[in-house]
Amino acid sequence: MKQLVFATNNAHKLDEIRAMVGNDFHILSLADIDCHTDIPETADTLEGNALIKARYVYENYGLDCFADDTGLEVEALGGAPGVHTARYAYPDRHDPVANTRKLLAELEGNANRRAAFRTAIALIQSGEEHLFEGRVDGLIATEERGTEGFGYDPVFIPEDTGKTFAELGVDVKNQISHRARAVQRLCQYLLQP
Ligand code: IMP
Repeated sequence: MKQLVFATNNAHKLDEIRAMVGNDFHILSLADIDCHTDIPETADTLEGNALIKARYVYENYGLDCFADDTGLEVEALGGAPGVHTARYAYPDRHDPVANTRKLLAELEGNANRRAAFRTAIALIQSGEEHLFEGRVDGLIATEERGTEGFGYDPVFIPEDTGKTFAELGVDVKNQISHRARAVQRLCQYLLQP
């Protein structure tokens, strides 16, 4: 079986990709290859950050690898928080509750609620780099709604649904989300005959 490192230790992301690639690839996490470095994400694009992580693994471990990076891009905020989505409220830490609160405060009274979630995946196989994108357009709600999911799910309404990701629930979300779309494209590429 071919091996591929996913530059993450997020169990949910690992389960998702393992279910999609089936028996064709053995997916290893960073912990599986004994990589315990917090790889710095210093690029100013999602693609750049995904490439930094994938290159780190390829260059230090010599293993084929892919990495992802996700951002929420809000039109009225000029594309922010973008690459700063995880640390929007506090530059030195990830506080999802504070992030959501800050986003609602920034958009208070603003009629333009348009936003998109975007995931970039960088794959390096035998030294060759490939990029895949997944995107879902939608709106930012005026208040939090729903209880499922994580992060900004209670305030993101994917287009044509009228409900937040947190109201739609994980099963529906996993069919249409930015990450699901990016992962589908990666899998189409990996599993092509
Ligand atoms: P990461 O690149 O997957 O670590 O995600 C970066 C940031 O985006 C984190 O703050 C996450 O909480 C947020 N995020 C990523 N994907 C989602 C999602 O599907 N729903 C809500 N928030 C998300």
